[in-house]
Amino acid sequence: PDQRLVLREEIKALLKAKDAVLVAHYYTDPELQSLAEETGGCVSDSLEMARFGNAHSATTLVVAGVKFMGETAKILNPEKRVLMPTLEATCSLDLGCPIDEFSAFCDAHPDHTVVVYANTSAAVKARADWVVTSSIAVDVVDHLAGLGEKVLWAPDKYLGAYVQKTTGADMLLWDGSCIVHEEFKARGILDLKLQYPDAGVLVHPESPESVVAVADAVGSTSQLIAAARDLPHQQFIVATDRGIFYKMQQAAPNKTFMAAPTAGTGATCRSCAHCPWMAMNALENLAQVLRNGDQEIFVDEPTRVLAMQPLQRMLDFSA
Ligand code: 13P
Ligand code: SF4
Repeated sequence: PDQRLVLREEIKALLKAKDAVLVAHYYTDPELQSLAEETGGCVSDSLEMARFGNAHSATTLVVAGVKFMGETAKILNPEKRVLMPTLEATCSLDLGCPIDEFSAFCDAHPDHTVVVYANTSAAVKARADWVVTSSIAVDVVDHLAGLGEKVLWAPDKYLGAYVQKTTGADMLLWDGSCIVHEEFKARGILDLKLQYPDAGVLVHPESPESVVAVADAVGSTSQLIAAARDLPHQQFIVATDRGIFYKMQQAAPNKTFMAAPTAGTGATCRSCAHCPWMAMNALENLAQVLRNGDQEIFVDEPTRVLAMQPLQRMLDFSA
């Protein structure tokens, strides 16, 4: 029998036996996304992953994605066991925002409301007034600007600049970036458009401003999938992780999708439109963690209690 199928069947049985549900991000391998779909789990953006895990009755959440997603699940659900295929899967935004430096930055600007992107450690979230994901960053900051608040934003400078431009808010930006999205190049996209003049351009706002400027739609992963379905174009150039093609193709079966060109296309390509940390999730390590439960997320209780407040604010705002 096909080894992949055997492994899938074993994982399905283990999920049931352990009262576990699989929560996967759109950037993970299609093998994992389809398994989450088949087993009553969820495939979604980071906001919906947080919501789903919170609402589901399973006593174990298995989060296929990167560490901050597992931590968010644990912060919101301390009574549940949160496992990940590997705890090594991190994120350049999280790595680029260490708590000590971030805390000093906040201390230096006490008159600012602290808004952090979900792609951060539990400790950084614990220092924040608000947590946001890319789905609601613009709405939350717009709301704060309406109240006359000044915003300290971390860690993604490109998403921050996009939010600032869209809302006109007074914002101080941390200097962080995503190693996948920062490699997309406007020049390469425009060159590709010469070959495919009718193609639409879909851009995640973690991309540089010049790339956002050539977009037909800018948004979170779930918003880009909706745009792929709803915009009239038959072809799309996509400036986000190519793991998303699985769902885009499902949402718009007759359309075609191309990855946007990156800075290092070819031998020197660092990420080539695929997050190296998301790519660490596979059927093999998913089966392994379900068998032995070793890759478990823990967040110390004082940090968890503090981080819960801005996360809950985010969920309440978007409810
Ligand atoms: P979304 O919230 O849009 O799914 O983004 C998460 C992420 O890590 C993007 O790189
Ligand atoms: Fe982080 Fe970028 Fe990977 Fe998303 S794609 S998890 S922002 S490194």
